[in-house]
Order: sequence, then structure tokens, then C-alpha cells
Amino acid sequence: MSEIHTASSLRSAEEVGTWRGNAPLAKLPTPAGPVIQLHPYSDAEMARDPIKQVILRRGSARKFGQVPIELRQLSTILDRATRGIPADFLDPQGTHFNEVYLIVNAVEGLDPGAYVYHRDRHVLECLKAGNFRAQAGHLGLDQQLPAEAAVDIFFLADLQIILGRFGNRGYRAVQLEAGILSGKVYLAAYTQRLSATGLTFYDDDVIQFFSLHAHGKSVIMLVAVGKNAKSAQV
Ligand SMILES: Cc1cc2nc3c(=O)[nH]c(=O)nc-3n(C[C@H](O)[C@H](O)[C@H](O)COP(=O)(O)O)c2cc1C
Repeated sequence: MSEIHTASSLRSAEEVGTWRGNAPLAKLPTPAGPVIQLHPYSDAEMARDPIKQVILRRGSARKFGQVPIELRQLSTILDRATRGIPADFLDPQGTHFNEVYLIVNAVEGLDPGAYVYHRDRHVLECLKAGNFRAQAGHLGLDQQLPAEAAVDIFFLADLQIILGRFGNRGYRAVQLEAGILSGKVYLAAYTQRLSATGLTFYDDDVIQFFSLHAHGKSVIMLVAVGKNAKSAQV
């Protein structure tokens, strides 16, 4: 780990200068499958809980109830989590490394299936329809959490492009961005009285599941979202 850290460190003012700006603009291909327009809650419609309360409420779900969440809740999570983060490696503004792929198990108003999120168009593109709870459980390291969640949100990035521009340190950047996006998913979920948990996964199997669309990308992070089993029983 020390060697990796050293190999991805900036050692001079010149290296810092080269690091900033000129981030590669990765674009998703224009949707080719069916698209679903998303309608996230507006500022006025959002829960008014102060951030401190949400942070206190937050905690990784240990068991999800197999009950649906609403499409507007998922839309709000995606919208709020992907508005960009201020970082010197994400310049010009609006640049992002991670794309959002989803396995939808139980979202009211959305057929179960595999989707990719087009943040600029505010739409979900359906990659394949079907009940993928069992596959989701397998992809999330053979655990129940991703099988029982309402939706599994995967962050995928094209490492070749990022490492080509930023070198070894690009891997830190892509992980940092996915970490912050996931943190925002947690907050957006718990604000809406939903639950979430970060999960580990089988890298290659996830890419295979979302291919051809995800071909060439790598999985960086997975967050499962749903209703906590305890509150779902109420
Ligand atoms: C990157 C990451 C990977 C995780 N992987 C798993 C996992 O594979 N299985 C699991 O049950 N929890 C997983 N978790 C959830 C952690 O176990 C949980 O966040 C940790 O116990 C701290 O609890 P808290 O988030 O409630 O504070 C993961 C969390 C993160 C951030």
C-alpha cells in the first residue's frame, strides 16, 4: 500500500500543475433502449430535516425489507447525488468519471431490470428487463443485502481513459469521486427515510452483467438502497 501511495503521489509543483484541468469528458452513448423520464422532488417538496439529523439517522442497513420504494424517491437520490463535486481533477466543471448503472428490484412505476442513468437528460435507459434479485445477490459478493434491496446502484468508470490522462493517481481520483457520490446517495436515501449500505462486489461479473453497454469499464462502488426491514414491517 505504501508503494502504491508513493507511486501515485505528486512530487513537485510542476506535477501539481499538470494534474489540474483538462479532465477527459467521458460521455455515455445516446440512449438506444427504452427511456423513463425522471421527476425528482423539487427543493420545496423535499423533506426539511437538517443535515445533522440526517447524519445521526444514517447507518448502513443490515437487512432490507423486500418492499418497493417510489420512483420519485429513486429519481431524487440520483438527481441529488450526481450534481457534481468541486475537485481540481474534475475541471472543466461538469466533468465526472463515474457513470451510474442500476439493478432495479422493486421501484413503483419502474419495471424490474438493468438500467443506466443519463444524468444530463434525467432519464433511465433500460438495458434489459427482468427480475434480477438473484443475480444482484451474487454480484454483491453472494450477500442477501443486494438481493433484498429495492435498487442496487453501481458506479462504473472507464479507467483506461482516466489513467491515460492522470496516470496512477487517477485511480485515487476515481475512487474519491465514487466515495463522495455514494455518501450523497446515503444522505439522499436517509433524508427520505430510506436506508442504504455500501457493498463489495465481483468486479468482472458486474461488468459482464451490464455489457455490452459497460464493456471496457470497471466497477468502482456499489450502494444498495431500500426500506429497512424493521421499518418495512410497520
Ligand atoms: C466500500 C464499502 C463496502 C462495504 N461492503 C460491505 C459488504 O460487502 N457487506 C456488508 O454487509 N456491508 C458492507 N459495507 C457496509 C459496512 O459494513 C458499514 O458501512 C460499516 O459496518 C460501518 O457501519 P455504518 O455505515 O452503519 O457506520 C460496506 C461499506 C462500504 C463503505
